[in-house]
Amino acid sequence: MKPIVLGTHNPHKIDEISHLLLECSFEIKTLKDFPELTPVEENHNTLEENAEKKAKFYAKKTGLLTLADDTGLEVLSLNGEPGVFSARYAGENCSYEENNKKLIEKLSGKKGRDREARFRSIIACHNPETGRTQMVEGSIAGQILETIQGNHGFGYDPIFYIPKLGKTLAELTLEEKNKISHRAIALMKIKEILKNYV
Ligand code: IMP
Repeated sequence: MKPIVLGTHNPHKIDEISHLLLECSFEIKTLKDFPELTPVEENHNTLEENAEKKAKFYAKKTGLLTLADDTGLEVLSLNGEPGVFSARYAGENCSYEENNKKLIEKLSGKKGRDREARFRSIIACHNPETGRTQMVEGSIAGQILETIQGNHGFGYDPIFYIPKLGKTLAELTLEEKNKISHRAIALMKIKEILKNYV
């Protein structure tokens, strides 16, 4: 089986992506297989640039086909905040709980459409043999709740409510989230690209 590297240190992303790639004929490697590789600084202004930077960096270091994801939560009434700053919305090294609390506070008093948001995932695939990067996008629309709900998933999942399901992403199992999420939609598209490598 051909190896593929998942260029992330986030265990939740590793679980989601590995599950979605289960039926693909790849030997999945994570950064645990390359302990010498430290996290890449995500210092660009767009998800696309950060995803490409991570995929290229880990592909060059490992010499293997690499996938990297960069995801942001975009709230329409906050002009797309927290967006590319989603990981550190409440400050450097902040927790998921602190980010959720900050967003809930920012939206305090807002109702209806002013609470609409979307998750946007960019997945970059870099092939170190050809030097080519391919990128895909997946998104999902929802609303930001005033309190957390559910204890699955990670990040902003407990405040991201999907009206048609009547649940937050944190109330879904891994399998359920992987049928509809921003990351799953992007992964479906990447799987089409990966068919050329198998
Ligand atoms: P990253 O830069 O792609 O690692 O993601 C930035 C931040 O977005 C993470 O620290 C999480 O807070 C959040 N995030 C990314 N993906 C998800 C998801 O699938 N659900 C909830 N939050 C997420």
